[in-house]
Amino acid sequence: MTKIPAHFAGSKVKLGCMWDLALVDCNAATMVGGYGILRDAVIGIADGRIAFVGARDGLEPARETRHLHGAWVTPGLIDCHTHLVFGGQRAGEWEMRRQGKSYEDIARAGGGILSTVRATRAASEDELVASAMRRVAAMARQGVTTVEVKSGYGLDLATEEKMLRAAGRLECVPGGVRVSRTFLGAHALPPEFKDDREGYVDLVCNAMIPKLAPLADAVDAFCESIAFTPEETERVFAAARAHGLRVKLHAEQLTDQGGAALAARFLALSADHLEHLSEDGIAAMAKAGTVAVLLPIAFYFLRETRKPPVAALRAAGIPVAIATDCNPGTSPAASPLMALNMACTLFDLTPEEALLGMTAHAAYALGLEDETGTLEVGKSADLAIWDISEIAELAYWIGADLLKSRIFQGRSL
Ligand code: NIG
Ligand code: FE
Repeated sequence: MTKIPAHFAGSKVKLGCMWDLALVDCNAATMVGGYGILRDAVIGIADGRIAFVGARDGLEPARETRHLHGAWVTPGLIDCHTHLVFGGQRAGEWEMRRQGKSYEDIARAGGGILSTVRATRAASEDELVASAMRRVAAMARQGVTTVEVKSGYGLDLATEEKMLRAAGRLECVPGGVRVSRTFLGAHALPPEFKDDREGYVDLVCNAMIPKLAPLADAVDAFCESIAFTPEETERVFAAARAHGLRVKLHAEQLTDQGGAALAARFLALSADHLEHLSEDGIAAMAKAGTVAVLLPIAFYFLRETRKPPVAALRAAGIPVAIATDCNPGTSPAASPLMALNMACTLFDLTPEEALLGMTAHAAYALGLEDETGTLEVGKSADLAIWDISEIAELAYWIGADLLKSRIFQGRSL
């Protein structure tokens, strides 16, 4: 940090340094405890971090001052649940679903996740990066600065590793993005283990987690009637914790397996989907501080009818996050703003709750709350600048081009 120049020395000292950039003439939604609105705000950025957020006083000790003409600034959006690295696509399967086949029917017949496993095994790492990069770039154009990416379409050590490496390379998207990687080996039973469930769970716990732990920030599992039982999930979680990794869970998406309560016992960062969440699950999550990640685009795309218990989550004080669940089977969606809209229209969140769900609460769901998710001094300067006149517009428009620019770790394109 550079010393403050003489002509600023008498001004309000803002982190005692010269900023690299001052954003002025803007409205800020800091997302601290709600929208946290500051009108006619100044945001100072130094060394890639937020150095000041507050009212304008006419003195911005910055090398560069950018006038935003009343634009809105929010924390960069955080998509905290995606499966966006995968081979191929599943539009053909979706056509079958339109003709009456269910997601579970297709999965049981060897389609669904397993058809993406075949395509992902066949793809090179470069091919996976190239296809996923298009999706991450689309998200970045909607203000995303942090994205979580799960493995889980490899289901063998080499392909799971290839997926996690590919996910890491997405940080090079134009303008940059932070990628949080999650190992999801327990996503489906691979064909070579179809008669040996225990053998596959052994492989996940004893070979994959130890080998892949350095490439992953967390471990996830799909606890469901068509995937892994609570007992199998528990073994995976115990292995994850033994290797120092936090856990999260696909829980209660299609049926109530008691997954949320199990996740809470392991102090999970989040339990995700939750359409069939029970009262016991809610109580356990509240006690453990586990974030509820809701995925309204998957709900819409599967034409589910049972909604997650939003009013009960609210009453229990559980932080709710919203994500795209971008994946080829249940949510072919690279649009975080669409997820915000659907969180409001389908799940009855307020626009403020939805935006908290893709900023402050999403950071908690990834264990990144000290680094990003709000506009607060000391956090990474991850910002989205929007061409809107009212903050609720972020959840209101469908398919509009709202982003003016994006700043990641203090840098913009
Ligand atoms: O989050 N629920 C499990 N996994 C994904 C679906 C993956 C797929 O169908 O390819 C989900 O919905
Ligand atoms: Fe998912």
